[in-house]
Amino acid sequence: MALYPKPPEGSWTEHYADVGTGVVSYEDCISPEFYEVEREAIFKRAWLNVGRVEDLPRKGTYFTREIEVAKTSIIVVRDLEGQVRAFHNICRHRGNKLMWNDFPREETKGSCRAFTCKYHGWRYALDGSCTFVQQESEFFNLDKTDYGLAPVHCEVWAGFVFVNLAQEPSQSLREFLGPMISALDGYPFGRMTERYDFRADVNCNWKVFLDAFQEYYHVPVLHSQEATPAARPKMNGFEAPHYQLDGPHRMVSTSSVPRRLWPADYQYPIEIATRSGLFGPWDEPDLGEALPGTNPGGVRKWSMDNFQIFPNTEILIWANGWYLTYRYWPTSYNTHRFDGTLFFPPATTASQRAANECAVVMFKEFALQDAGTLVGTQRALESRAARDDFPLNDQELLVRHFHKSVADWVEEYEHKIVGV
Ligand code: FES
Ligand SMILES: [Fe+2]
Repeated sequence: MALYPKPPEGSWTEHYADVGTGVVSYEDCISPEFYEVEREAIFKRAWLNVGRVEDLPRKGTYFTREIEVAKTSIIVVRDLEGQVRAFHNICRHRGNKLMWNDFPREETKGSCRAFTCKYHGWRYALDGSCTFVQQESEFFNLDKTDYGLAPVHCEVWAGFVFVNLAQEPSQSLREFLGPMISALDGYPFGRMTERYDFRADVNCNWKVFLDAFQEYYHVPVLHSQEATPAARPKMNGFEAPHYQLDGPHRMVSTSSVPRRLWPADYQYPIEIATRSGLFGPWDEPDLGEALPGTNPGGVRKWSMDNFQIFPNTEILIWANGWYLTYRYWPTSYNTHRFDGTLFFPPATTASQRAANECAVVMFKEFALQDAGTLVGTQRALESRAARDDFPLNDQELLVRHFHKSVADWVEEYEHKIVGV
């Protein structure tokens, strides 16, 4: 799909002719069989963001990720040369899970000079090579060099660590990300190291929640109580000023007047006290002039970009100098784990810290509101009582494009790879 800077006359959706304007099926969110195909067609073929380089601050630091949808656990490590690598989290002797702490199904992180198996003590260097076998002479023609950890393709873009679980990925990470996402290359993500992590297990398909964060049609209704008194009347008819699609990825921008210019209007007194709120701290950090890749539509009074990286990562970049990531990890056809993280330039004063923390609690309130509808939606969809023909409007272009991208990947997998 081509990269279009702006639509001509007409709707955004009609401009991107490939996505069509017809009704949309949500069978892809309620079918256990479809989920089984998604495992292979999407999560074992696409590049997946599993963290940031700040998660690996020094040589020897590592973290694990449980990727249930791909039925695997991985170790991501910065080796003693400083290179970021990934491996399947399994000992080559008899399959024990290599790195875990206290609870074998939970993720862990730490720092070490070698990985040591808790079962019989085999050791692996941080580059994955097997360096020690307990009572090696008891084995039969064992050559340790044949028993390194199983590697996982791992590449870093703009400080985001991605893995690909395919034997041979069909594209490099940069090719996969395409021009729209890659344009963010020089954005100062690395300066935003004050972070707040949230995790929630949500009882709905991963795409149902993702959809809730890629359209703003719901904002005047679902979030009506959250608007400030002055903003409330203006919310009806709210529309985002720019949408863009690029391959399986998509983005939407919003615009608004900087919050610091209308300080008398607030929802909670804490916003005045901290000069902060849902849209982040009012007083912007100095990030320099250029913010590469942001506001690709050149919208006036730009306030935020929401980039959706296929399949399950979202980066929201705010004009006032902070960003968020959301990741949606399927755990079954009707459950997933949601990871939300807020990133700010580190506060240098107590009031900056209070401003950051106010944004964090406001985010949590909104996210809970968005999440509040999801279980009901999943149950209702699963009833199959509604016909399989949901109409989407122009503001739901990204929802439409997302489900089409999922279907395209599944179809390509089934036709070209499995030959169905
Ligand atoms: S399973 Fe790891 S050393 Fe035996
Ligand atoms: Fe929302």
